[in-house]
Amino acid sequence: MIEPMRPIVVAGNWKMHTTPSDAGDLARTIAARTREAGVIRVICPPFVCLAAVGDAVRDEDVGVGAQTVHHEAHGAFTGEIAAPMLRGLATWVIVGHSERRRDAGETDDLIGRKLDRAVENDLRPILCVGEQLADRDAGRAAEVVDGQLRGALTERDPAALAAVGLVIAYEPVWAIGTGRNARGVDASAMADTIRTTLDGLGWGERATRLPVLYGGSVTSANIGEFFDEPSIDGALVGGASLKPDEMAGIVARAALTARARGLAA
Ligand code: PGA
Repeated sequence: MIEPMRPIVVAGNWKMHTTPSDAGDLARTIAARTREAGVIRVICPPFVCLAAVGDAVRDEDVGVGAQTVHHEAHGAFTGEIAAPMLRGLATWVIVGHSERRRDAGETDDLIGRKLDRAVENDLRPILCVGEQLADRDAGRAAEVVDGQLRGALTERDPAALAAVGLVIAYEPVWAIGTGRNARGVDASAMADTIRTTLDGLGWGERATRLPVLYGGSVTSANIGEFFDEPSIDGALVGGASLKPDEMAGIVARAALTARARGLAA
């Protein structure tokens, strides 16, 4: 069933790109070119660029997010960043991105603890889930995503996660940075799977109000296929989020959906 009050979110994940000296200009340009009613815009630059991006979009309605956060609140963890350190720098955080699962060995258990830190520190999490190509080919995509959600969310309080505004991004690993996007219908089916899993974890009605984004080779050319699906509420954009023209096109398309869904006049 369609829940009309879910927000539309377009979040840019800049990954390991930009520097503190150029990130502000890029953020300012993107913000100026994506002013559309009814769309929540978020930019997630590298940690060292958070301050520059925050300064650049201070007068814009643009959220700033970190790309990850440590699962402990403080301690002897050389090189890591804890959630309390993000105060004043970020209000969003990406958790469980597949590149972190792959390169930093992040498990569902650790990802769940990161969600706890996000909740404690009032950071709005974007939890990423998604299957490998072999899983999809074997018909196990839904099973894998269900398992990731259970691994990270079981025994976590649905009310607390809903209160902080949890967003889930379905990002099939084979579609990230490959130029090969999933089909809108497959993303939609997975969004339904995600809400069913959450319902099974005690979310109840809250599961229908949970925003689900699609991520994986999103561009201004293919975003329409995802917004055509009533179950999909936005996009987590990687490569294209560094290009103002692309972001302008993606957010303009998001705004059409916002209007169609009654989120903007
Ligand atoms: P991509 O990355 O758009 O470059 O495929 C998406 C992501 O990793 O969030």
